[in-house]
Amino acid sequence: MTHDTPPDAFYDILRGVAALTGNSVVADLARLIADGMPQDLWIAFNHKQIGSKRWLVDALAQVMPQPQGPVFVLGAWYGVLAALLLADERLAIPAVVSVDLDPACAPVAERLNRRHVATGRFRALTADMTTLDFAAQEPAPGLVINTSCEHLADVPGWLSTLSSGTPLLLQSNDYVREPDHRSCVPSLEAFQAQAGLSETLFAGALPTKNYTRFMLIGRR
Ligand SMILES: C[S@@+](CC[C@H](N)C(=O)[O-])C[C@H]1O[C@@H](n2cnc3c(N)ncnc32)[C@H](O)[C@@H]1O
Repeated sequence: MTHDTPPDAFYDILRGVAALTGNSVVADLARLIADGMPQDLWIAFNHKQIGSKRWLVDALAQVMPQPQGPVFVLGAWYGVLAALLLADERLAIPAVVSVDLDPACAPVAERLNRRHVATGRFRALTADMTTLDFAAQEPAPGLVINTSCEHLADVPGWLSTLSSGTPLLLQSNDYVREPDHRSCVPSLEAFQAQAGLSETLFAGALPTKNYTRFMLIGRR
């Protein structure tokens, strides 16, 4: 790729890939790129990010394909996971609420998921997940997803803000070298102990080049 590649080239290539594969998320990404994207969007769409989210969607399709209420995705960044969840035909998800502390995220997430905004299946909320009143959400969450547990200072403290029995999907990792990571766990067993779920439907580890990602699905 040379420095003088016109921005339209990325749009055209992605539209071609969407036509080739029939993948609606690629078509939505092409549109997002066409009308302006944040500089770090490439990180949110890199193969490691997508790989860990595909792992999540595959596991959810196995053990909890029909959440009984909106799925709250916390630390949702640019709404990539919502796009994958809403596109997957194995899942029956009524709606996704994408929550991030950074106010720059919601407009991008809404543009990526614009088809679902139009049908009422997607909304983005700028909020702090540690102070969000989940009990006040109407309709009540059918599933709470947090793929950024390693970023929280107090994972058990945050979990105690959720009603017991809340369906949960949690990810964390052992990547202690990243300065923003405050609650890394050394193993899947340590993550299970940290989360203290009342019921576990899935527990797994996904080794990557620099670290291992852990995932739990169950109930608070
Ligand atoms: C780097 S991103 C995503 C990392 C994660 N491993 C993933 O792929 O889902 C972490 C996001 O969490 C958000 N975040 C961090 N603390 C938060 C909080 N207390 N409430 C809501 N969002 C938060 C940040 O703004 C950022 O967009």
